[in-house]
Amino acid sequence: MAIDGPAGAGKSTVARAVARALGFTYLDTGAMYRTVALASTRGLDEAGALDIGFDGDAVMLNGEDVSGLIRTAEISERASVVANDPEVRRAMVAQQRLIIAGGDYVAEGRDVATVVAPDAEVKVYLTASPQERARRRAQDLGVDDVEAVARDLAARDERDQSHGRTIHEPAPGAVPLDTTGLSVDEVVGEIVERVKTVRA
Ligand code: DC
Repeated sequence: MAIDGPAGAGKSTVARAVARALGFTYLDTGAMYRTVALASTRGLDEAGALDIGFDGDAVMLNGEDVSGLIRTAEISERASVVANDPEVRRAMVAQQRLIIAGGDYVAEGRDVATVVAPDAEVKVYLTASPQERARRRAQDLGVDDVEAVARDLAARDERDQSHGRTIHEPAPGAVPLDTTGLSVDEVVGEIVERVKTVRA
């Protein structure tokens, strides 16, 4: 199944929990773009030549566990820039398709429902109000200035939206789910029910 939506909508938290509840494997496609960004800081600019994958929950770059290194603010910024490079996207999409062909996955990321896995059995588009998204993001980052986070999110939305990728509307066949005011458990429960119904 595929979960997408804008930054701060709760995609990662929800996707991870849905995967656990269903016994599926979680694919964090954003981590792969972050890893490309990290590689570029080391002068490794050819995304197609990178060995990017997962070892359990760990994100691996050419055999090295980079899980912690890809979560910095600098890499977040850089990831959103490299993700606009068509060569990078081609390489990551190819790799992601190979990964999900190997089993039952909850694939999460903003193009999974449109490009990576348009034929997913269930596609969910998570949203939340801009204020809620900024509030959650600020909480994740451990910062108090929600207004500043809201401005960053708006800038990121703008960048992530360019090059023909829309992130403010569901992919064809995707179910919109507004998570504003809902707990993680409520959101996860709703998605799990949906998957079970489709698979029944
Ligand atoms: O979800 P995240 O913050 O870890 O994603 C990092 C960056 O990669 C973010 O700017 C969005 C981009 N991204 C993308 O373009 N396509 C994806 N499938 C996943 C993430």
